[in-house]
Amino acid sequence: MKIGSLTLANPLIAASGCFGYGTEYGEIIDLSSLGGIAVKGLFLTEREGHPPPRIVETPAGMLNAIGLQGIGVHRFIAEKMPELRDRGAVVIVNICGTTIQEYVELARILSDVEGVAALELNISCPNIKEGGITFGCSVHGTAGVVRAVRAVTRLPIFPKLTPNVTDISSIARAAEEAGADAVSLVNTFLAMAIDVETRRPRLSNIVGGLSGPAIRPIAVRMVYECRQAIRIPIIGMGGITSASDVLEFIIAGAAAVQVGTANFVDPLIWPKLLDGLRDYLRRHNLNTAAELCGTIDTSAREKEWISS
Ligand SMILES: Cc1cc2nc3c(=O)[nH]c(=O)nc-3n(C[C@H](O)[C@H](O)[C@H](O)COP(=O)(O)O)c2cc1C
Repeated sequence: MKIGSLTLANPLIAASGCFGYGTEYGEIIDLSSLGGIAVKGLFLTEREGHPPPRIVETPAGMLNAIGLQGIGVHRFIAEKMPELRDRGAVVIVNICGTTIQEYVELARILSDVEGVAALELNISCPNIKEGGITFGCSVHGTAGVVRAVRAVTRLPIFPKLTPNVTDISSIARAAEEAGADAVSLVNTFLAMAIDVETRRPRLSNIVGGLSGPAIRPIAVRMVYECRQAIRIPIIGMGGITSASDVLEFIIAGAAAVQVGTANFVDPLIWPKLLDGLRDYLRRHNLNTAAELCGTIDTSAREKEWISS
């Protein structure tokens, strides 16, 4: 399974923010058995994030407004990378900035670190006031970050797109034209929940990002739309909880997928997803998941539409 110049053992990647720095799971999961691990979003410096409550359960999903709490890139390199290297993890570092210069600086620093396989550019976090999503909500902002990072690194770069836009395929196109190797989509949907007894928002940040099965059909539609618009690989995500969900994303056009919220429910989900995927490939006489990418057959539906 290839994503640009990056080779993955399988199409399953742990989604950023839902798998810590990977090391937390090292004792219970063989980290090298995953296609990759997108680590929690990192800024140049440490951040505390928002005060609690910052997670709320919702129907078929969850709302979060963590606010990108993190240990910062330097501590990550010193404290986490040695173990990730030892365990043979394919490490995709999710980087965040409030300015383009910060993304550039992070990319420069990480380019020299042994064992960093790729950079995921988080231009889509809905939970911070500056930077992040403000870049990802416009064609211009997306292209600006991607072009600047492209100029300073040879690592594969995957801008992570926000679904909180009218036309995600135009943003994906801008990312491709600016030099991205792939695009990751989607980040969470801006959402809120209110406690009607107190009339207070359930999250300290008032609004947060919705993830989990509730968003999956929208995310699949966005992968499908982007597949028509760009040639670079798509890493699809949003609400995956089963092998059948993984397949839906791949058939819609994703080359690989990420799994986030489901990992909180079942941290041992990975071998189950892989077994389900292998079983499907066997039943359909396919050698690799790559053969399935974008194979959605819309012809019958189109004929029905024309004749009605
Ligand atoms: C608690 C939490 C923290 C997250 N933190 C990050 C992050 O640091 N960087 C990022 O790009 N996405 C982050 N995300 C978004 C996920 O990586 C993923 O895009 C989203 O949750 C949709 O996938 P899912 O429905 O499988 O969780 C976070 C999501 C959750 C639920």
